[in-house]
Formats: sequence, structure tokens, C-alpha cells
Amino acid sequence: MIDMSVEIAGVRFKNPVLTASGTFASGREYSEFFDLSRLGGVVVKGVSARPWEGNPPPRVAEVYGGMLNSVGLQNGGAERFLRDDLPFLRKFDTRVVVNICGHTIEEYAEVTKQLQNSDIDMLELNISCPNVSEGGMAFGTDPSMTARVVEAVAKAADKPLIVKLSPNVTDITEIARAAAGAGASALSLINTLLGMAIDAKTRRPVLANGYGGLSGPAVKPVALRMVHQTARAIDLPIIGMGGIMTGLDAAEFLLAGARAVAVGTAGFNNPTAAADVISGLENYMEESGFKTIPEIKMIYN
Ligand SMILES: Cc1cc2nc3c(=O)[nH]c(=O)nc-3n(C[C@H](O)[C@H](O)[C@H](O)COP(=O)(O)O)c2cc1C
Repeated sequence: MIDMSVEIAGVRFKNPVLTASGTFASGREYSEFFDLSRLGGVVVKGVSARPWEGNPPPRVAEVYGGMLNSVGLQNGGAERFLRDDLPFLRKFDTRVVVNICGHTIEEYAEVTKQLQNSDIDMLELNISCPNVSEGGMAFGTDPSMTARVVEAVAKAADKPLIVKLSPNVTDITEIARAAAGAGASALSLINTLLGMAIDAKTRRPVLANGYGGLSGPAVKPVALRMVHQTARAIDLPIIGMGGIMTGLDAAEFLLAGARAVAVGTAGFNNPTAAADVISGLENYMEESGFKTIPEIKMIYN
């Protein structure tokens, strides 16, 4: 009998496969394709203290091996999330992780307070969105800013705090260490890599915003390297993501040192992707003789 459960900061997940923030809005769209109770957890789209409009269209573009997006964290705010989306998700036997965003430290602290005493399992602090002009990635690319925002949110949070790191840095372990020192209970990585698409015929950028975040299989080698580096340097559980399409991809992240994984862009291609990753990972464990997730370890020699 295979036990796929994992524990992250005291929270038990039935399996290590979550949905990646922003690619699974409220879950309603995917619930038509598979039973969300199969998921280890749902990480919801970024939620801010008040509604955000997001960036103008076009804000997604297909590129080789993935996509670019400049959605800009459009969302209806914490009040609406608590009223409309959380009760729906709570009908399923899965963990609910709320991704939070803000332009300033005060806004991050405010949304954290709005979510106090709510029926959610964990918070994921997004300090790594490349698509907002203030806040977002600016926090996640500077260790002292990272420490300040993590400390403020950790103080206001009544749930374990995952800090989501940006790959748009020279040394990710420096930011991870700052987050760990300021009160993070876990880390998730990677968010999207800043990129650009240009239409040679119109001679214009494809995205209205100019730049956008690259995700999908194209980023997987970068994500694996960063998970590996972070796992070796910092003693916190890691949720790994970036281009996971199959159970084998998920296994690679666990081998790199992640305790759990998240599936994002794959869901746009195949709405059952996250469920397929769970089945694929279970097959991998059976074939390789693993009975538990922590047994999945890399061999070095
Ligand atoms: C359309 C879109 C929206 C996203 N929105 C968010 C978000 O709101 N908050 C966040 O932390 N990450 C967001 N992300 C990043 C993903 O959660 C994930 O970190 C990244 O896409 C890499 O995983 P993937 O290659 O499996 O998609 C978004 C990604 C996409 C493609």
C-alpha cells in the first residue's frame, strides 16, 4: 500500500500535488473535469485586500514550450473570495491555500488580517509576481524587503505561511534565507520568469504590457535547479513548481528536494493535468518500489 501523504508546517496533505496559484481561479472550472477531492490541495489565485483590475489585454501569449502572461493579479478582493469562492472549495476534501498579494507592506498585512479566523489551511505570500508595477516582484528580489514583508505578514497570520519566491534573481538562496529568518514556515518556487514576445510582422510586443511571466515546460530545468539549490541551503519544506506536466516531472521535483509540487500551466492544455500528475506519480512510486513520499531521494555518485 502506497502512502502519498506529506506534511508541510504541521498541515497534512493527502498527496503532494497542489494546483499552482493563478491557474486555477476558484476551482469551479476544473471541478467539471475531475473531483477536486483528489487533489492534495488547491492554491487559489492571488487575493488582495481590495479588488484589483489587472493589466490590459492581450495579456497571454503562447511561446515555444510554454506561455507568457501579464494578467497582473486581477482579483475581486478578500471579501469576495471569502464570500463566493471559499465555501465552494470547502465542499471538497482538499487543503485550501490562499495566495496573497499587495502593493505595499501595509496592503499585505491588511489582506492577511482579513483572512484571520477564516476556514483556510495555509497562506502563500506572493512576493514574486513580475506583472505588477509596485510591490510583487520588487519585494522578492531584495533580501531586506523580503524580510520586512514576511515579518509583517507572519505577525498578522494565524495560519502557517508559505513564501513564494521569484526566479528573477541572481542567488535564490539569499532570498530564501531572508524569508526563513523572518518567519516563513515553508517556501514555494518558482514563480514565472520575466520574458517577452515580439510579433515581427507588426513590429510590436505581443503583450500589451510589453513583458510577461514565462511558465510551462520551458522553465522546468531552471525550476529544478532552483529547488535543488534552495533545498540544500535552507531547512524548510519546499513546494516545487515550474513546467510540471506529468507524474515523472513531479517525481523530478521531489528528487530535487521538494516535499510537494504544484501544477499550473499544464491545466490550460489538459484540464485534468493535476489529477493525471497524481496518478502518474503513484505509478512511478509503484514501479520504483517507493512506499512513501520521503523515500523519493536523489542518488549522488
Ligand atoms: C496565468 C497565470 C497566472 C498566475 N497567477 C499567479 C498568482 O496570482 N500568484 C502567484 O503566486 N503565481 C501566479 N502564477 C505563477 C504560477 O503559480 C506558477 O508559479 C508558475 O506558472 C510556474 O508553474 P507552471 O509552469 O506549472 O505554470 C500564475 C501563472 C500563470 C500562467
